[in-house]
Amino acid sequence: MEGYTTVKHDVLVIGSGGAGLRAAIEASALGVSVGMVCRSLLGKAHTVMAEGGVAAALANVDDRDSWKVHFADTMRGGQYLNNWRMAEIHAKESPDRVKELEAWGAVFDRTDDGRILQRNFGGHRYPRLAHVGDRTGLEMIRTLQDHGIHQGIEIYQEFTIIRLLTYSGKITGAIGYDREKGLFKVFESKAVIIATGGMGRIYKISSNSWDCTGGGISLAYHAGAELIDMEFVQFHPTGMVWPPSVRGLLITEGVRGEGGVLRNNKGRRFMFDDIPENYKNQTSMDEEEGWRYTQGDKNARRPPELLTRDHVARCIMREIREGRGSPHGGVFLDIAWIKEKISNAPEHIRKKLPSMYHQFKELAGVDITKEPMEVGPTTHYIMGGVKVNADTQMTSVSGLFAAGECAAGLHGANRLGGNSLSDLLVFGKRAGEFAAKYAKENTIPSASVDQIQRIIEESLAPFNRSGSGQNAFQIQSQMQDFMQELVGIVRNEKDLNAALDKIEALKKQVEQVSCDGNRGYNPGWHTAIELPHMVTVAEAITRAAIDRKESRGGHFREDFPDKSEEFGNVNISIKKDAAGNMKMERVQKEKMREDLKQIIEEMK
Ligand code: FUM
Repeated sequence: MEGYTTVKHDVLVIGSGGAGLRAAIEASALGVSVGMVCRSLLGKAHTVMAEGGVAAALANVDDRDSWKVHFADTMRGGQYLNNWRMAEIHAKESPDRVKELEAWGAVFDRTDDGRILQRNFGGHRYPRLAHVGDRTGLEMIRTLQDHGIHQGIEIYQEFTIIRLLTYSGKITGAIGYDREKGLFKVFESKAVIIATGGMGRIYKISSNSWDCTGGGISLAYHAGAELIDMEFVQFHPTGMVWPPSVRGLLITEGVRGEGGVLRNNKGRRFMFDDIPENYKNQTSMDEEEGWRYTQGDKNARRPPELLTRDHVARCIMREIREGRGSPHGGVFLDIAWIKEKISNAPEHIRKKLPSMYHQFKELAGVDITKEPMEVGPTTHYIMGGVKVNADTQMTSVSGLFAAGECAAGLHGANRLGGNSLSDLLVFGKRAGEFAAKYAKENTIPSASVDQIQRIIEESLAPFNRSGSGQNAFQIQSQMQDFMQELVGIVRNEKDLNAALDKIEALKKQVEQVSCDGNRGYNPGWHTAIELPHMVTVAEAITRAAIDRKESRGGHFREDFPDKSEEFGNVNISIKKDAAGNMKMERVQKEKMREDLKQIIEEMK
């Protein structure tokens, strides 16, 4: 029998990005013992890649803003599929979470009178994104980490969780291994919070870190939790397209928020060519007015570059497909043009967008104060994930909570930029609070030794096939290729079914994966362990995308290009059935409260 060590906590947090850190801080402050598992080193979280800002209706730059406008914007951006209670909580609580972060030491950019500065972003009616240049996520992680390390949280760095442990439908902990030596550890815990982020790395072109493989979503699914909205994947309109080694790397929407415009190879601002009906009255067809909007003119309407991400990404794809793209398969994003408007434009750009300036200078040899950038859509975010209770963040498994990107509901069919950072603060805090409460009220049955031994044996199986099995990296790369090709921005039934066939074939290959060497820092073994989780997530996205026979938000079906009334009130739910297969169900959304309906009507 393979050995393992055991540790006990009241609350175990899996993931140490913004949501995990905020949850751990809250749970710890409530007096329970907290363990936090980091896949990498503390501080090396994908949250640092969130650049342009955190959305909160502070109304510092435009006093017409309020939680009600933020709520209405979030619902409209999500095409009304959002969990309205989550959207309400999020809009009401994000200002306090941002101010709290400031009190903990976050150094936001300032207005002239010393308040937190806010910038424009797509789909937000007023300047709402509190920011630190274009390094907001980095400053947030630094602040949460500095605050968190004084809270008595036990931190397990370079650990990967393989499976959640349950007993009679209740969570009892998790099992994982340390990357350094490959030794197994059982975390017995009364409550577990999944805060593992997204899944961009199951696609070929992605803005996500290597670690974003959807592991937490799959862990929860295999422990019996319900998933929803998995078909809604967000393709951020602007990722780098050149050079190939950095393809997909994020170019913040902050560039467009500061006045950057999109052009095709004819020099045309193609975003003027297609304005969605429900944004027509808020969008300007006049270049001068759009510019004034980005510079804070309260009477101006937004330029079309600041429409929602799903729409902008599709317009870019249209230009590329119809032959009006840039030399390396993107379109042009130009901020240098503002020299026609501002005398000190280069200094201004370097001050507002320091990371973008350096990123292009160092990686592509492009000076963005002088030349346009080449940009194209990149897999950025999943709106779907683990279904949670809006108030407590508990999943359908007792004692299992989820927060941040791996949890679903807030964003509906499409997320507005900046709402992810406020999401992880608001719901990270709530998950920590309610997990601590749950831990205080519940006892924990011991984890089953048989269950643990079975998981360990399965995890070590790739070594037994050493030299004779399938290569984990090749399988991962095949999956990334076909997910990009067949389950990408523009989808249809034929491609989706082809993807599903490939996924079924991959499952067989995954069972035959082998690895060599020993267990310490072994990327082949690590990938072999992760692959089944990635395949689970790919399957859930593909099946849900087949089932939703309409186009809405991040999910665009060229064979069903319009929104359908039938699906307008439906979330697609996925659960594991007794035979271990994915069971899909179309679930009617709960009717929205009358007072919230009225807010949406007023804001229209
Ligand atoms: O464009 C950006 O800076 C990304 C922000 C976000 O996804 O929220």
